[in-house]
Order: sequence, then structure tokens, then C-alpha cells
Amino acid sequence: MNKKSKKVLPLVRKPDFNFDNLDIHYLNNNPVATHFINSLHMIFPDGEKYFIRSVKAFSHKITDPELQERVRAFISQEAQHMNAHKKLWEKLKEQSIAADLFLRFYNYTSFELIEPFTRKFLGDEFPLAVTAALEHYTAVMAEVALYDNGEILRDVPLEMKNMLLWHAAEEIEHKAVAYDVYEEVQGSYPIRVAGMIYATFLLSFYTFLGQAMFMGFDRSINWFDIKDQTERFGTRTKPLFEGVFKNLFEYFQIDFHPDNRDNSKLSDEFLKDFSSDLSKKVVNN
Ligand SMILES: [Fe+2]
Ligand SMILES: [Fe+2]
Repeated sequence: MNKKSKKVLPLVRKPDFNFDNLDIHYLNNNPVATHFINSLHMIFPDGEKYFIRSVKAFSHKITDPELQERVRAFISQEAQHMNAHKKLWEKLKEQSIAADLFLRFYNYTSFELIEPFTRKFLGDEFPLAVTAALEHYTAVMAEVALYDNGEILRDVPLEMKNMLLWHAAEEIEHKAVAYDVYEEVQGSYPIRVAGMIYATFLLSFYTFLGQAMFMGFDRSINWFDIKDQTERFGTRTKPLFEGVFKNLFEYFQIDFHPDNRDNSKLSDEFLKDFSSDLSKKVVNN
């Protein structure tokens, strides 16, 4: 397997989404599934802010002008994703006190306690390694989301489904940028592996904590149905967890590169239609 980057230059798109009409259990009337997605909506924006500062910390060290340009596009795409997920926060905060409580806990522990600690003892290279690892996660999750025209998201309300698929497609489009920066400025294999282990632990912990908090504060849950709903959630998300698990280990290969895995067809197909819809929208407005 070669370790060559395809040097894809991401394209910045600025779609606008509207989440005004969102039921409390908008996904199949299933609180377990709904709150799982809600947790991701809460985690992504500050996570993406972390990606941006991790990559930015090394932008002065990047000598390749092509990579510099890809970094700029990566930052702009992640900023758009942040804004799109944040648009949901108001609605989720209206629906549950868990949204605010979770955000406060997540920000304090991740970015005020743990991040400075890791920077101090492991250097700025460590957050960059964590970012490259999480970008592998988002690319693998994106592949599952986009597969078969977004079949796994078929019951998600249309506006949110479009947003998640757009985000997924751009995650595939820019999947190699943070990794290429890491390779250019650091490239140590043990730190890359440590970044993946750390990323796996934190991503799992906060995702399930967020889901548990939304559920714990949800007074409209019928707890007698929860076993059934958890089973249905498990069946529906099986391809996601299987996909993530199967592809996680390729990251540990010494000659791993995100572009070794060709999933660009999925994102290209979606983005082709999406971008033309978007340009129509912009022209019409
Ligand atoms: Fe993103
Ligand atoms: Fe990303």
C-alpha cells in the first residue's frame, strides 16, 4: 500500500438550514436514537474548533503552498460545519436543560482541563495527532452515512438529513488534510497511535454521556418502551458501529494514509447534486 496523498483541495460551500420545526423525538419517535444524534450535534462544533486550532498551530511550519491552501479550505469547511450544528443548539436548549449542562461539562473537561494538560506534557503535536485520528473517524462515519443514498439516515427529518450528508461528504473531501499536516510537521508513529487511542476514548465517552444526559432529563420518555427502543436503535446503527470498528484498525498500519481508502465516489456524487441545488438556491435568493 502506498502512502501518497491525492492532495484534494476541498471546496467551501455555505448552505443554510432551518431546524425550526423539530419534534422532541424527531427520529422515529425514538428517544434513544434522537438523543444519540443530539449528542453528536452538541459535540461537533467545539470539537471542530479544536481541530481548527490544532491545525492552525502549525500553519507557519507548512512549507508546501498546496498544503497551505488545503489547510485554509479545511478550516473554512470546519467553520461552516460548526455553524450548521450550532444552529440546532437553540432548539435543543429549548427542549432540554441537558444541552447546556452537557456543553458546560464537555467544554470544561475537554478544553479547559485536558487539552492544556496534554499540550503541556506532550506538546502541540499531540492535539494535531488527535485531530488526524478524529478525522479518520469522521471519514469512516461519513462513508456509512452516505452509503446507499443515506439509507441509514432515512427517517431523519429531511433538513437534518441533508445537513448530515453534506457534512459527511465534506469530511470525506478533506479527510487527508490534518493527516498531511501531521506528516509534514511531526510524523511520529507512536504519537499518532496515542492520538487515536485518546480520541477513541474521548469520542465514545462524550457521545454516550451526552445521550445519557438528554435521556435522563427527558420527561416525555416512556421508560416502559425503552428496551424496545434501544433494540431498534441498536439494529439501525449496527452498520455504523461495525463500519467504525472494522476501519479503525487500518489507522494503526505504519503506512496508513487516508487516501489509501477510496471513498471519494460517495462524496463526489452527493456533492455534485448538492452543490448545484445550492447554486440554484443562491441564484433564486
Ligand atoms: Fe466537520
Ligand atoms: Fe473534518
